[in-house]
Amino acid sequence: MDRVLREGAFTGETHIVTGAGQGIGNSVARALAAHGATVALVDLDEGRLKEVQSEIAGSGAPEPIVAPANVTDEEAVKGAVSATLEATGQVNGMVNVAGVTRDARITKKSYEDFKLVLAVHLHGTFLFTREVAAQHWHPLFKENGNQPLDDGVNRYIVNFSSVSARNGNIGQIDYTAAKGAIEAATRTTAREFAGYRARCNAIAPGPVNTPMLAEVGPDVIAGMGRATLTGRIAEVEDMSHFICALADPKISGYVNGQVIQVNGGMYLA
Ligand SMILES: NC(=O)c1ccc[n+]([C@@H]2O[C@H](COP(=O)([O-])OP(=O)(O)OC[C@H]3O[C@@H](n4cnc5c(N)ncnc54)[C@H](O)[C@@H]3O)[C@@H](O)[C@H]2O)c1
Repeated sequence: MDRVLREGAFTGETHIVTGAGQGIGNSVARALAAHGATVALVDLDEGRLKEVQSEIAGSGAPEPIVAPANVTDEEAVKGAVSATLEATGQVNGMVNVAGVTRDARITKKSYEDFKLVLAVHLHGTFLFTREVAAQHWHPLFKENGNQPLDDGVNRYIVNFSSVSARNGNIGQIDYTAAKGAIEAATRTTAREFAGYRARCNAIAPGPVNTPMLAEVGPDVIAGMGRATLTGRIAEVEDMSHFICALADPKISGYVNGQVIQVNGGMYLA
């Protein structure tokens, strides 16, 4: 993975990335590691995470931590965060990428699928956000006499919305509702975490070339590319490079509580 920031921008830091097994989350993990971060890799399949661990360590980046967890499993999320803290003593960044789709129009949508999609996106984002704060950032705040943590340490959360949260998308009542809720939750998290001096932002991607998008088929994907002002759908690096910039306090230290559209001009917010 090419560097897009100065060398070692995240050296000595620990960043947790969910959905790190494939797609955007995998690219985010590799990009943060390429800038020196120790990355805790979260996804469902431990074997796949071990492959990602060796690929990243083989590239010369710090060896990642394998922290398999279903993001909807409260105990597993607690365990992934505590294992990360045991390994490195800190969490600087939390990137909530894991997601699923179960597209079907409202009349055909099963309640089980609706609940699953809400759970993975919204509940998973909540659980990881809560655990990082409850296990790490809030205790630091208390030790500091409940005063803001003006210690210069990088702390941030990046959540994943989608262009479809604002624009709507047929077949995705569950997905768009989850993403809209994540945008609202991002603003509340930013307000609550101000005392930790942790920035919380979300990105709302347009269509990105990943296994998730491949499910809609090549003709639909070609149409999506034409619907942007950039003339193409995004590659995963369009997202992961931007997240490096958002994670870096030297670039984005004054960006907080925002939902940032990264959609090639498909939707103009
Ligand atoms: N691809 C796009 O066009 C697009 C557009 C807008 C937003 N997004 C968002 O970007 C994020 C990543 O999407 P992607 O395209 O890389 O998807 P993807 O399907 O390629 O990868 C998602 C990853 O999340 C993991 N995951 C799913 N359920 C999980 C669970 N319960 N616990 C732990 N891990 C789980 C999967 O195993 C997979 O590795 C999602 O939040 C998605 O909604 C994607």
